[in-house]
Amino acid sequence: MASTLSLHTSIDSFHFLWRQIENEVYNSFTGLRDKFAILGAWYATRKTVGIIYCFVDAVRIHFFSGMKVNWIEKYGPWAVITGSSEGIGYSYAYELAQRGLNVVLISRNERKLQKAKAQIELDCKVQVEYIVADFSDENQTELYSNIGKKLSDKEIGLLVNNVGVMYDYPDVLLNVATQKIWQLIHVNIGAATLMTHMLLPDLVKRKKGGVVVISSGSSTQITPQMTVYSATKRYLDYFIHGLAYEYRNSGVVFQCLIPFYTATRMTGYSERLSNTSVMIPDAARYAKSAVKTLGRSACTTGYFPHTLQLWISRAVPLWLWMWTSEKLNNSLRREALSRQSKKSLKFTSGEMGTSFDS
Ligand SMILES: NC(=O)c1ccc[n+]([C@@H]2O[C@H](COP(=O)([O-])OP(=O)(O)OC[C@H]3O[C@@H](n4cnc5c(N)ncnc54)[C@H](OP(=O)(O)O)[C@@H]3O)[C@@H](O)[C@H]2O)c1
Repeated sequence: MASTLSLHTSIDSFHFLWRQIENEVYNSFTGLRDKFAILGAWYATRKTVGIIYCFVDAVRIHFFSGMKVNWIEKYGPWAVITGSSEGIGYSYAYELAQRGLNVVLISRNERKLQKAKAQIELDCKVQVEYIVADFSDENQTELYSNIGKKLSDKEIGLLVNNVGVMYDYPDVLLNVATQKIWQLIHVNIGAATLMTHMLLPDLVKRKKGGVVVISSGSSTQITPQMTVYSATKRYLDYFIHGLAYEYRNSGVVFQCLIPFYTATRMTGYSERLSNTSVMIPDAARYAKSAVKTLGRSACTTGYFPHTLQLWISRAVPLWLWMWTSEKLNNSLRREALSRQSKKSLKFTSGEMGTSFDS
């Protein structure tokens, strides 16, 4: 009898103990669950507020002009735009001239520069000068010393570091010629760094003006088959953000523009990228929108549909971005190569035709 009683007692106490443990665990998990719920709610609120803020800020940057800017007072009287005989550089120079700034255009091809100068002078009634220079020149010291001499008599208030080169079409590193790689380094990195180093002292002294760099959407994440190009653009992002911090009290405005595909000579290797659309504007449309963001945002795509692209590109995981970039760039290269071979076929048959005729 006594042993049965003790067995019951032990069973009861075991059940009791088990229930106690269950309760304890449940209670402690309920507490934890509540803490997690609070953490989740805080995270979700933060994310939602972040997204709303981003959207409102993008609308402000792209669609509301805010205070009227006296461009000549703030960024004048002269602006220097590198790589400006055509494409985004030319259109950006045109927009600045429309706002009353005199512009200095710098590119390699004098004939194109003369044409650009004549057009801007005719339409905008400002002074336009040009400098013929090749930023990939072997003698880099002489190059910048010559540019410096030519700019020395001007009060320059704005520098637009636009010049940039890409490969002939997307490809892997070992298929890119050494000369091309040097060109990318000298033009994409060297030009912005040394032109800024040359002109920033005067801006800082006058406590006004601006420096703009044209980066690229390909720098937002690692972009295979455009590796050197996107890395040079990433350099520009870091460069301008670093300067903005170093000279935050100088009165000088720094801006990083991050365009995505824009139909220019640079994208001419692909028919798909040469056809303009909302997502692929031409240079004039892009520049018209980008210029308005100067002084309103330190870092922007400059064009609202590109901002939507930027949000997507930042949101996707790196592996997905690289996988998609590789697929897209492979297909763009195939397109470029097939266009090239069609062109050379046409050229050869044209040549043969001439020789037969004669
Ligand atoms: N187009 C796009 O899809 C895209 C997208 C993102 C970022 N971007 C960037 O936007 C900027 C402008 O591109 P874009 O599309 O307007 O290019 P683009 O149409 O090829 O024009 C490039 C300009 O730079 C000049 N240039 C090229 N190499 C030069 C050199 N070695 N020395 C001096 N001038 C040189 C060219 O004139 P000359 O030939 O007469 O020298 C031309 O005026 C670049 O920095 C590019 O990386 C473009």
